[in-house]
Amino acid sequence: MCGIMGYTGYRQALPLLLEGLKRLEYRGYDSAGVAVLESNGIFLKKKAGKLAVLESCLNGCQPAGVVGIGHTRWATHGVPCDRNAHPHLDCRGELAVVHNGIIENYISLRAELSGNGHRFLSETDTEVLPHLLEEIYQGDLLASLLALLPRLHGSYAMAVMSLREPGRLLVARRDSPLVLGLGKGENFLASDIPALLPYTRRILVMEDGEVAELWPDGVKIYDASGRQLTREAFPVEWDAAAAEKAPYPHFMLKEIHEQPRTLRDTLRGRMEGGRVLLPELDGAATYLRQCRRLFITACGTAFHAGLVGKYLIEKLVRLPVEVDIASEFRYRDLLLQPHDVVVVISQSGETADTLAALRLARNLGAKVLAITNVLGSSVAREADWVLYTWAGPEIAVASTKAYTAQVLLIALLSLHLAELRGTLSPSEVTGLAQEIDLLPERVAQVLRQEAEVASLAQRLKEHEHCFFIGRGMDWAVAAEGALKLKEISYIHAETYPAGELKHGTLALITEGVPVVALATQLSLLEKMLSNIKEVKARGAWVLAVTADGEEVAEEVDACLRLPPGDPLFLPVVAVVPLQLLAYHVAVARGCDVDQPRNLAKSVTVE
Ligand code: F6R
Repeated sequence: MCGIMGYTGYRQALPLLLEGLKRLEYRGYDSAGVAVLESNGIFLKKKAGKLAVLESCLNGCQPAGVVGIGHTRWATHGVPCDRNAHPHLDCRGELAVVHNGIIENYISLRAELSGNGHRFLSETDTEVLPHLLEEIYQGDLLASLLALLPRLHGSYAMAVMSLREPGRLLVARRDSPLVLGLGKGENFLASDIPALLPYTRRILVMEDGEVAELWPDGVKIYDASGRQLTREAFPVEWDAAAAEKAPYPHFMLKEIHEQPRTLRDTLRGRMEGGRVLLPELDGAATYLRQCRRLFITACGTAFHAGLVGKYLIEKLVRLPVEVDIASEFRYRDLLLQPHDVVVVISQSGETADTLAALRLARNLGAKVLAITNVLGSSVAREADWVLYTWAGPEIAVASTKAYTAQVLLIALLSLHLAELRGTLSPSEVTGLAQEIDLLPERVAQVLRQEAEVASLAQRLKEHEHCFFIGRGMDWAVAAEGALKLKEISYIHAETYPAGELKHGTLALITEGVPVVALATQLSLLEKMLSNIKEVKARGAWVLAVTADGEEVAEEVDACLRLPPGDPLFLPVVAVVPLQLLAYHVAVARGCDVDQPRNLAKSVTVE
């Protein structure tokens, strides 16, 4: 995820670009850059690191240009460094482009362009854009952009400017956000509304497949065939500080709602013709084929993703999996052997215990596969192989979209391993891959039940204790649901494998105690029903989360229904109502949802 900003008008562009980028830094902050049109060429400055680094490098530079584009990056293709930062230029230095998204076919485009003599300076997918435009350009930037877009696979919000057409900015959008801000004698573009609020509150939201041109005195929007569209601007009334998460009141809610898209991003380019493609693991094939057991280690939410992974891998790959909390893994007398593979999971890639576990495993001779969300993080740099979750920066302390992306990626990994080790036939893999492909839409369906979850939260908010129960993978999901509730609403929540309650904890179930029962695993439904009856008989108030359970619904006080699907992959879907529940309970209790007490987003201490 990256942030883009652009300006055409009568004021010096540079300060406006920097101010706007500051408000987009939440979208990525590993490098930043600006390009300003000057009469004698394009002024270009880009720097690795946060925007502040770029600002200090610019110290004293005051390009007079009144047209410019800027970018703050969250690296995907190519490490964060000056050369990979945006904007990128064509060979002649006449066209500049900023881009948020991924050009999936950039390798073939790059080969074609290199063959035609274009010189590339970065490792990014984006750099093909100015060079392709350079090839196509015949004096009209709009016509060139319309001709370029059909050649691209993937996602983009891009802004382009040309030395030959001063005053004109072109933008295009597909699957990445882009808004235009209308001013008087000046116009703006940005990835998100907050960047524009200091300058204008008249906003136009671009839709997928649209192209727009901005001049100081007007904005025109076109469809992909170049037909002009009419669109009304709308006034924005939020205050600028709260608006970064707008229209959501908290980042956590925004991130929960982003999940259908982030899950699609996790899958992007990783499935083709019913097969799972994880080219990042090409070099790992021998190890993954030969290893006799797998270790998974992580902390907190990432550990819960690992628990789901154990069930998935053991079921589909028939490979024993041990899952450990990283702070335990690193201090026990590990029996690692050559050919053991250790999977570490970390959203931030910087968690001290997880990193220490990774280093220990490597010191003991094991190979390490990292699953992380942050490109170039310590975990990513030190592992033997890396799979990125591509969930975009997660700002709320409580992890939501990173968790679902981790579980989804582990599901893909399971199919990859099953194929490698021959535990599933190609047609079985295809059938399961099709199920995985449906998960983003299923999550979207669950999000539509938010009002129902919010009213259930009112029932829970007065309690100080709550229990989460489930069997098999449901138990792992229950653990994640309980953690969410604890960390943001401060309600004490315990998780139990449902069959274990009667061995002691049942003593705590009394009249009115809330129990959240996960019942998504068909093969365990009957057993789960018995456990639900056990707690009901002691007076518990039971909220069930189930996919197919008419019988479950009849037994409980409230029931949230998931769209049916293969139970193997339902954890990705089943956690979503639990995230919403925790969120709405925390709001109802007046808690600081995004920054709960005592916690931090990245735990870099032991
Ligand atoms: C809880 C949460 C934490 C993290 C844990 C590991 O919502 O976010 O439990 O999952 O601190 O962090 P990463 O994944 O960055 O290693």
